[in-house]
Amino acid sequence: MPVSLDPLAPSALLDTARAVRENAYAPYSRFKVGAAVRGASGTVYRGVNVENVAYPEGTCAEAGAIAAMCAAGETRLTAVAVIADSPEPVPPCGGWRPEVGGFGGPRPPGGLGTTEGKEFHTTIGALLPGRFDAGHMSKV
Ligand code: THU
Repeated sequence: MPVSLDPLAPSALLDTARAVRENAYAPYSRFKVGAAVRGASGTVYRGVNVENVAYPEGTCAEAGAIAAMCAAGETRLTAVAVIADSPEPVPPCGGWRPEVGGFGGPRPPGGLGTTEGKEFHTTIGALLPGRFDAGHMSKV
């Protein structure tokens, strides 16, 4: 897989996700996931899945990356990337749909990858159609 020299390119974001994936804590599923999100400032935030012996308590890689972004004081993202050792580029699970949609909206690019180098480039809107967002709570 060619490595882009542009640090803002989707493939470069996937490379970041690939590298951080090594740090995933997944002793129960043994399915390591790495994620990277680019904040509006250009800073890239990384996340991995962190599992818990009480299985439902684990957190997804995407949630970790978004938590890192928020901890740094950013609330807008402009690209996301997710990677795992899957046969085809790994799609994000549904749990992060409101978070990514809320912080990024539908337009930002989303890169999905496998550890063997397959990539699929799309957008958040295509990945996360019909997501729950704050508008659904407007009557509260
Ligand atoms: N996982 C993620 O971190 N992100 C996804 O989008 C898919 C699933 C993690 C959760 C769990 O630790 C493992 O992968 C197996 O489901």
